[in-house]
Amino acid sequence: MNDRRSTFALVAAASLLACFAFVSRDVNAGNGVSLSAAQVSSGSKAFAQNCASCHGAALEGGAGPPLSGANFKTLSSKVHATVGDIFSYMTSNMPMNAPASLTHDQYVAIMAFILSKNGYQPSSSALTYSAAMQSKAPIQRK
Ligand code: HEC
Repeated sequence: MNDRRSTFALVAAASLLACFAFVSRDVNAGNGVSLSAAQVSSGSKAFAQNCASCHGAALEGGAGPPLSGANFKTLSSKVHATVGDIFSYMTSNMPMNAPASLTHDQYVAIMAFILSKNGYQPSSSALTYSAAMQSKAPIQRK
C-alpha cells in the first residue's frame, strides 16, 4: 500500500514537473524563432546607430519603410516574406548607405530587436545567424 502511494506521489510530481517544463519552454516554439533579451537590448542600440535615421527610432518609418506594425508590408505582409527573407535582404542591402557593413552579431541582434517589435517574445535561447537566415517563420507574430 505504502509503495503504491509513493509511486503515485512520484508520478504526480513528475507530471507536475513536466507541466512546468512545458509552460516555461520557448514561448515562440512552433514558430522556430528564438531570441534573447540581451540580443534585443544590444540590437536596439545597433539599430539606433545604423538604421533609425531612415527607419525611425520606433521603427515607424521615414526615408525607409516602417519595420513594425500594420505598415511593415513592402517585403513582409504583401509578399508573405519570412524572417529568413527579411534577414537575408537586410544583411546584404542594409544600411542602404553602407550595405553589408555590420558584423554578423550586429545583424542578428538587430533582427532580434525588430522581431521583438513585431510580437516575438525573448526567451532563454538566443537567435543565431543561420537560424535567422533559414527561418520560415512569419516576420510578424500575431
Ligand atoms: C540611408 C537610409 C537607410 C538606412 C540607414 C537603412 N535603411 Fe533599410 N531601407 C531603406 C530604404 C529606402 C528601403 C526600401 C528599399 C526598397 O524598397 O528598395 C529600406 C528597406 C529595408 C528593409 C525592407 C523592408 C520592407 O518591408 O521592404 C529592411 C528589413 C531594412 N531596410 C532594414 C534596415 C536595417 C536593419 C538597417 C540598419 C542596419 C537599415 N535598414 C538602414 C533605407 C535605409
